[in-house]
Parts: sequence; structure tokens; C-alpha cells
Amino acid sequence: MSQSLVIAIDGPSASGKGTVAQLVAKCLGFAYLDSGALYRLTALAAKQQGVAWSDEVAVSEVASALDVEFIGERIVLAGADVSLGIRAEEIGSGASQVAALPMVRAALLQRQREFSTMCGLVADGRDMASFVFPAAQLKVFLTASAEVRAERRYKQLIGRGEKADLALITSDLQSRDDRDRQRTVAPLAQAHDAFLLETSNLSVDEAVTQVLSWWRARR
Ligand code: CDP
Ligand code: CDP
Repeated sequence: MSQSLVIAIDGPSASGKGTVAQLVAKCLGFAYLDSGALYRLTALAAKQQGVAWSDEVAVSEVASALDVEFIGERIVLAGADVSLGIRAEEIGSGASQVAALPMVRAALLQRQREFSTMCGLVADGRDMASFVFPAAQLKVFLTASAEVRAERRYKQLIGRGEKADLALITSDLQSRDDRDRQRTVAPLAQAHDAFLLETSNLSVDEAVTQVLSWWRARR
């Protein structure tokens, strides 16, 4: 595996991984990997192709054949912009179902590692520290209470002009987190050598500052 610089940020849904990881990457001039997007893209592509999310062999073929381009903040699947489409909670739930299938995880592993460049990488997901980049120089497990995370997701949806029901979001996040924690392959868990960052009472800026200060201390 490449010896380039990697910061791995894992955590449950709506803990702020993506927001914090992107800002840290921007501050350091590193590339950014949103590994969850790959599982979401696999779920969406399978749905479009009429492949059941439980069909491990067929979904892993969909994952291997993903025709995806990351263009700045846009995500393009087979020529169509799906940046918003993959964020739907139904696709998040599908992502967590396909993510529990070992063949699907194997199909996406190399694709994730290819994001690592000599310029440095900040990668966010569930198993960045434990499995995809076990030699990452800095590992962070970001979390927040279930109530705070549900409210964050609620505000995100309202901010995008979408309908949102706090009770439904809370139960969707809970069932997705439970599935992610309980699966047998690469479950959501804090790596033994990861720093824990509890962000329930932290702003985005405070969380970013803490990650950058751990990074500077490591360097
Ligand atoms: O990637 P993940 O699902 O973990 O979370 P996100 O989509 O990056 O963040 C969810 C929302 O929480 C975003 O609107 C953030 O601005 C907000 N937020 C945060 O990420 N961190 C905080 N400390 C406070 C708020
Ligand atoms: O933004 P949010 O945290 O809600 O989800 P995401 O990071 O986009 O990931 C969607 C789903 O993909 C998660 O619920 C996980 O089941 C799965 N996933 C995973 O298993 N491993 C990763 N490295 C990233 C995501």
C-alpha cells in the first residue's frame, strides 16, 4: 500500500464526518474521499438496473462496474448528475444494506485506495482507519449524540428545501447505525488507535481545529 499521508475520519451517520473531512482537506491541500458515496452509488446503480440490494453477486458486479466521476463537488454516474439523488434516505438505507455484503466491500476496496495520492488524503467513512487505510498517520472517530445527529440531518434537509420529519429521521438513522455496527465485515467501530472526537457541543470550526491540531502534533 502507498506510504502517502492519510487522515482517516470514521463515525456514525450525521456526526459531521463529511463536513469536517472536506474542510480539513481544504486547509491542508489534501484530496478528499467520501467513501460513503461509493456505497450510495452502488445502491442507486443497483436500483436503476433492477438488481435487488440483497443479491450479493449481482450487487458486487454493479460495484465493480460503477461508471462514476467526481468533478469538484459533483458526482456523475453514467453521465447523470446524482450528487443530490444519492443523499436520499432510501438510498442511504440501501447503501447500508449493500455495505454489509463482503463481496461488495471487496469490490470497492481498491477503488477507495486509489484516492490516496502523494499530495495527501482525508478519507471519511466507517472503516477508513480499521480496514481501508490501516496505516493512516492520523485516525479520528467522530461522534455526537443520536438526538444531535438527527437534528443536524433534519436541518440539512430543510436547508435543501426538502420535507423532513424529525421522528422518521431519528428512527432511520438508528436502524442504519445499528446495521452498520452489527455487521460482520468492517463494522462501524472506533479503531484502537483513533482519537475520539465528541462533537455534540462543538461547532464545525471547533471540530476542524481539533483535527488540525492533532495532525500538527503528529507531524
Ligand atoms: O458525513 P456525516 O453524515 O457524518 O455528516 P455531515 O453531512 O458532514 O454533517 C451533518 C451536518 O451537521 C452538516 O450540516 C454540518 O454542518 C453539521 N455539523 C457538523 O457537521 N459538525 C458540527 N460540529 C456541528 C454541525
Ligand atoms: O452521510 P452518512 O454518514 O449518513 O452516510 P455515508 O457516509 O454516505 O454512508 C452511507 C452508508 O454506506 C453507511 O450507512 C454505511 O452502511 C455505508 N458505508 C460503509 O459501510 N463503509 C464506509 N466506509 C462508508 C459508508
